[in-house]
Amino acid sequence: MRIPFVAGNWKMNTSRAEAEQLVKALIPLVAGVRDVHIAVCPPFPYLSHVVETVRGSVIKVGAQNMHFEKKGAFTGEVSGEMLKDIGCMYVILGHSERRHIFGEKDTTINKKVHQALEVGLKPILCVGELLEEREAGKTEEVVENQIRESLANISPDQMVQITIAYEPVWAIGTGKTATPEQAQEVHRLIRDWLQVHYDDGLAQQICIQYGGSVKPENAKTLMDQPDIDGALVGGASLKADSFASIVKAAI
Ligand code: PGA
Repeated sequence: MRIPFVAGNWKMNTSRAEAEQLVKALIPLVAGVRDVHIAVCPPFPYLSHVVETVRGSVIKVGAQNMHFEKKGAFTGEVSGEMLKDIGCMYVILGHSERRHIFGEKDTTINKKVHQALEVGLKPILCVGELLEEREAGKTEEVVENQIRESLANISPDQMVQITIAYEPVWAIGTGKTATPEQAQEVHRLIRDWLQVHYDDGLAQQICIQYGGSVKPENAKTLMDQPDIDGALVGGASLKADSFASIVKAAI
């Protein structure tokens, strides 16, 4: 049995006070939730403070990115070890905004996945096609290439630490959600790929989140699909009540 996992990607939003208010409002709303893994991913400057604020609750903390090297002369970058050191459990890697605004390639993302695992962080690896790729019938090819390259040389023991988030780029922040059937089709494809490249037992263990305009109104029908095991939530994670509703829809 896979435990559903709902994570909130705050992106470049909130002030310190807003970050604190958001998690303080969220803690009681999800306090009774069992059997769903819950994480929030605030911007770097507030990570430590959010880690302290959620301590003792069911909420874990993740970062939105990290560098692939251990340390050194990489001005402006943050290492996985630093994130682990301040109490992060997760790190989002290969988010479509990193890929398309900052030009991150799968080879770089693969190095980040390896580095994250090396320091004991659990990667949330994002994949997903652009609208023109979907319209050209290339969704399958694009997503398969992304998972193959970004998971290069990942052992089965490492793979079980990873969550995959399928986020069709055309659905992110647009209010357009993939239909449950469209999402399920790609989730199935990802699980089949895991089965072929690892084995069925492992494929059945991996949590595959859907992301892209997930809201309280559509969360349940998406997560009711057999291969959709949770959600990576952007906009709707910035309000405690809507994020909590999505968490509850995962139960
Ligand atoms: P959204 O973002 O929920 O605002 O569409 C999802 C994401 O980018 O992870």
